[in-house]
Amino acid sequence: MTLINELNKKSAGKSPEEIIKLAYEKFGSKLCFSSSMGVEDQVITHVICSVNPKIKIFTLDTGRLFPEAYDLIDRTSVKYKITIDIAFPSSKEVEKMVHEKGINLFYDSVENRKECCEIRKVKSLTKKLKNFDAWISGIRKEQSDYRSKINVFEWDEKNGLVKVNPLIDWTEQQVYTYVEKNNIPVNPLHFKGYKSIGCQPCTRAIEKDEDFRAGRWWWESGHKECGLHIMENIKLKK
Ligand code: ADX
Ligand code: SF4
Repeated sequence: MTLINELNKKSAGKSPEEIIKLAYEKFGSKLCFSSSMGVEDQVITHVICSVNPKIKIFTLDTGRLFPEAYDLIDRTSVKYKITIDIAFPSSKEVEKMVHEKGINLFYDSVENRKECCEIRKVKSLTKKLKNFDAWISGIRKEQSDYRSKINVFEWDEKNGLVKVNPLIDWTEQQVYTYVEKNNIPVNPLHFKGYKSIGCQPCTRAIEKDEDFRAGRWWWESGHKECGLHIMENIKLKK
């Protein structure tokens, strides 16, 4: 049995606390958490701080985040007495891209948008993950068709390490109930119609009947992934 199958078998029916404990037993200090500071990730930070505050937490600062996100990094660090590492993209690559294509290049074409995500986020993540054997993410099946096919433990082919998704089976209701019960700090935009929060120019609030991720890159049609979560074994519909 492969490592991934074994870990998925062990984690069946387990809580996020138990999954994170299991991952820490397996990977120790080589386990990290990449937090977008979104509501799911705040749940995970809370769990990490109660289970094992030694797990390294970092966030990718694209330079285009909402002011509320920066404020939340600060509030969370103070509340949990932790250091949230901040990863920045290569200033040279950002400068070159912006110089050649403009500061808001992402509105001009899907290619430009993907290039911006690649430089400001995906490469930053890849660089950060080089120091680890496993990373935790806050994705949930309910968020998209694509994510509905993902398991608790996955092999991240692109980055060459294990990916752990402790909230993959949780519903939005479970997330907010946990937040309220544990008094977890969250981005106030979540209560203003922002279900999923990314960069400021690429995120809008959604209407009640809209899809979870409709507010991300809202001007585009098709799947709404930036490249952080593309798994080789799962095919995207065009
Ligand atoms: S995205 O691919 O569309 O941007 P989403 O906002 O749904 O991702 O967040 C899903 C997971 O991706 C988060 O739980 C987190 O692990 C990771 N992630 C997304 N954005 C960031 C970020 N700015 N910094 C760190 N991790 C991030
Ligand atoms: Fe660039 Fe928008 Fe992607 Fe942020 S979400 S990295 S601003 S294209």
